[in-house]
Amino acid sequence: MSVIEFEGKKPRIHPSVFLAPGSWVIGDVTLDEDVNVWTNAVIRGDDDKVVIGARTTVLEGCLIEAPTGSPVSIGKDVIVSHGATVHGAKIGDNAIIGIQAVVLDKAEIGEGAMVGSGALVSPRKVVPPRMVVLGMPAEPKSEVTEATVQYMAKERERTLSKAKVYKQIYAKK
Ligand SMILES: CC(C)(COP(=O)(O)OP(=O)(O)OC[C@H]1O[C@@H](n2cnc3c(N)ncnc32)[C@H](O)[C@@H]1OP(=O)(O)O)[C@@H](O)C(=O)NCCC(=O)NCCS
Repeated sequence: MSVIEFEGKKPRIHPSVFLAPGSWVIGDVTLDEDVNVWTNAVIRGDDDKVVIGARTTVLEGCLIEAPTGSPVSIGKDVIVSHGATVHGAKIGDNAIIGIQAVVLDKAEIGEGAMVGSGALVSPRKVVPPRMVVLGMPAEPKSEVTEATVQYMAKERERTLSKAKVYKQIYAKK
């Protein structure tokens, strides 16, 4: 992994954070307790700031970037799934950003909402809490079901425990 200071902007990373090899954390980025960032994810705060809350997962190949005037805020217990992009947007606690979804500048994803895989959330779009949005551009589809909430809670726990195992494996290399 690479943690890069840029023009005096230095990442603030809780000691419990897992950064997989091949992940990049650049500039004004704050990663809270047990945040886990997987291979080839890039989190870049060289213009504006990025704050990511406790236990949030950023899976392989994600891009999180804060352009000037659009800081990124990602809450607690969020999953940003494989290859997703969060560009200058705000994501509420417990939300899920599906595989290869894109969330654009100043969009706001409510607590517990789900952006379906491949969806494109337009700039400034506000997604209500617990709403599923799908498509390009993303539109509301339904409420998140209790079954999905339970399933994703298990996924979160499994990912967090795997992150701790991988952290130990890579520390020995
Ligand atoms: C949103 C999601 C949960 C829907 O899954 P589902 O409930 O099994 O979907 P359904 O089979 O009930 O599909 C309902 C309809 O939505 C459509 N649909 C489902 N997922 C879609 C998506 N991502 N984008 C566009 N349309 C989608 C289906 O084609 C179907 O359309 P129809 O009613 O015209 O036939 C799923 O597609 C998704 O995006 N999951 C996120 C996966 C992910 O990233 N997980 C992270 C793991 S770490």
